[in-house]
Amino acid sequence: MAFITWDESFSVGVDLIDKQHQELFGFINAFHEDRANLEHTIEDLLSYVDFHFKTEEKYFKDFGYEKREDHESQHKFYEDKVREFFKQFLQGNTLISEEVENFVRDWIAHHIKVADKEYTKCFNEHGLK
Ligand SMILES: [Fe+2]
Ligand SMILES: [Fe+2]
Repeated sequence: MAFITWDESFSVGVDLIDKQHQELFGFINAFHEDRANLEHTIEDLLSYVDFHFKTEEKYFKDFGYEKREDHESQHKFYEDKVREFFKQFLQGNTLISEEVENFVRDWIAHHIKVADKEYTKCFNEHGLK
């Protein structure tokens, strides 16, 4: 069974974003499963997270999204955390704990279901569906 599986309960009502979240879950699953290539899977995950957050943030700016500031600071919090795990890994702490893995999965799942879903109305109103 996959570590995290996308289903309709994660849908934010915007196709492009739903597809990115599905991709993102793929990277989280690879990070969880492919223990032999951890360096690559963390790096890939980080760059996809960065790409995805930038996509959302571009729309926040374009659409003048009211919760932009708070949402972006949530993104920054997660990115800083994952980057810190990666740094620790590169410094020789090759054991990524279950706690870390669960954080990587659970934070994003919660973020999508709460914070991301809040921009649906704004994005839809600006023609993004
Ligand atoms: Fe997102
Ligand atoms: Fe987000």
